[in-house]
Amino acid sequence: PVEQTLVLIKPDAVRRGLVGEIIGRFERKGLRLDATVLRTMDGELADQHYAEHVDKPFYPPLREFMTGGALVALVVSGDQAIDVVRALVGATDGRKAAAGTIRGDLALSNRENLVHASDSPDSAKREIELWFPAGV
Ligand code: CMP
Repeated sequence: PVEQTLVLIKPDAVRRGLVGEIIGRFERKGLRLDATVLRTMDGELADQHYAEHVDKPFYPPLREFMTGGALVALVVSGDQAIDVVRALVGATDGRKAAAGTIRGDLALSNRENLVHASDSPDSAKREIELWFPAGV
């Protein structure tokens, strides 16, 4: 089925000039861009977006990183887009992510890993509503 998923191109990717490279990988795969916005997350939005992680030890530096510069939020769609995008993005830790994935090719960190992508239909729906409250 055609699905929509939320992608964040994180501040490290924007700083490194990798936005086009990352969007290009989604486009070349055949996925569609349904919405996009460049914005800076504030702490409140970070706490909502990462609600499942706020109590984890890695959260304070993650919050600092994610609120520390502009990012690009996207809604990406296509057949099985949630899983397809996660496969393109690769494992969380850029040092362990497989070559050929965005993180495997371009990231060397567990935190500054260039991209966030929704991990399930429920989180995709929640995150799309959070980032694009006016609808997509
Ligand atoms: P993301 O897919 O955005 O979901 C949660 C984020 O927390 C993750 O990508 C990383 O940026 C970060 N993260 C997850 N686990 C760790 C960890 N062990 N140490 C540091 N950062 C982490």
